[in-house]
Amino acid sequence: MRIAMIGTGYVGLVSGACFAEIGHDVICVDKDAGKIERLKQNIMPIYEPGLAELVERNVEAGRIAFTTDLAEGVAGVDAVFIAVGTPSRKSDGHADLSYVYAATREIAAAATGQLVVVTKSTVPVGTGDEVERILTEARPDIRFMVTSNPEFLREGAAIGDFMKPDRVVIGTEEDDARAVMAGIYEPIEKDGSPIVYTARRTSELIKYAANAFLSIKITFINEIADLCEAVGGDVRDVSRGIGLDSRIGSRFLNAGPGYGGSCFPKDTLALLKTAEDFQSPIRVVDVVVQVNETRKRAMGRKVLKALGDDPRGKTVAVLGLTFKPNTDDMREAPSLSIIQALQDSGVKIRAHDPEGMEHARGLLPGVELVDGPYEAVEGADALAIVTEWDLYRGLDLPRIASLMAKPLLFDMRNIYSGEEAEAAGFTYVAIGRKTTAKG
Ligand code: UGA
Repeated sequence: MRIAMIGTGYVGLVSGACFAEIGHDVICVDKDAGKIERLKQNIMPIYEPGLAELVERNVEAGRIAFTTDLAEGVAGVDAVFIAVGTPSRKSDGHADLSYVYAATREIAAAATGQLVVVTKSTVPVGTGDEVERILTEARPDIRFMVTSNPEFLREGAAIGDFMKPDRVVIGTEEDDARAVMAGIYEPIEKDGSPIVYTARRTSELIKYAANAFLSIKITFINEIADLCEAVGGDVRDVSRGIGLDSRIGSRFLNAGPGYGGSCFPKDTLALLKTAEDFQSPIRVVDVVVQVNETRKRAMGRKVLKALGDDPRGKTVAVLGLTFKPNTDDMREAPSLSIIQALQDSGVKIRAHDPEGMEHARGLLPGVELVDGPYEAVEGADALAIVTEWDLYRGLDLPRIASLMAKPLLFDMRNIYSGEEAEAAGFTYVAIGRKTTAKG
């Protein structure tokens, strides 16, 4: 099949490269000429494991190409995927659809014949209807079949998630569109992934419901973690104890400093706005959003409290700045709120991240960014591990303790055991487990 992918951001680029990998002819379109030029030289705009290799292989095989010319990209294809950004509108939290509608108008102008137009970006319920209206008003001569096909990729694991998804969701009421989509996803379906065909609005809602549910799950275990600390329990055992119940499931039950990233915070807000517009409130999500926001800053306050009565002038080493490992994405990262809370009280921050430092530089004024974890902890009064990069899982704890002014460790991702931290001389504070004072 011939596919045009509009937008070479995270979703568009990964999806385009994966569609090429399963045998389709893909043309990726982006307005950003610099980005397209770099992609042609196999320089990726984002850090995602395996992506550069995947793109290179498919460029060599002649299955993927890049252009800034949307009309050239759209001419003669079977399906156009819209994968442009849908950021939260600053004024009201609604998803900003201006990029989606701008792309739609350009597709209308460029279309040469019957076309399946697929929204892959995360778009609120009813967006497909508006996309269809724009297309048919602009080009009544052409049959457009607007289809919803949300993505469920996780940053850092996106290629695996695309190639072997838990499910593919396709929302269309038209048989011809369904046939084109079935052709596109045939290799993935043959490989064992189920395809859920549904109405377009339902498909749009599935995406938000999935992200909201996962946000609820994380927030639930985070609050159970707080209760564990209060009653003297261990949240890791609670997660295991409830997760083995197949009705609950073991994934997304890792307690931490609060969820972040480009999706959960934005999508939960957008779902709330839709619920408000349709006067059908989803109160549980409302609470989750508030609890999560509060939690991120509360983590900073927890560190402050441990620093004693006068934290001003003390130094905290922060390891891990991105919202999760294996990405350079800093959007809504808990590190931002934690560091802000510490800086507001006059604490100096020295930080390290394996991939996020470039983005962090602009976002974290006043933070000293250093080349490695051991440089970060020198003379520090506390160490906070905020993101669970593999690099931080095997730290030489005795060495770290000896480099610090005070061996105080906040393990916000529960990657160490209290025993090993204590043996290294640390006062160890984890999430949802008991604090271990140094011996
Ligand atoms: C999320 C979803 O997992 C994807 O299915 C979805 O496609 C994507 O959003 C999207 O809408 O585009 P992503 O934001 O890349 O993917 O990252 P996740 O792995 O879901 O993590 C999100 C946040 O939750 C991170 O801050 C992570 O640290 C936190 N988290 C996750 C926890 O605190 N505990 C967990 O057990 C799992």
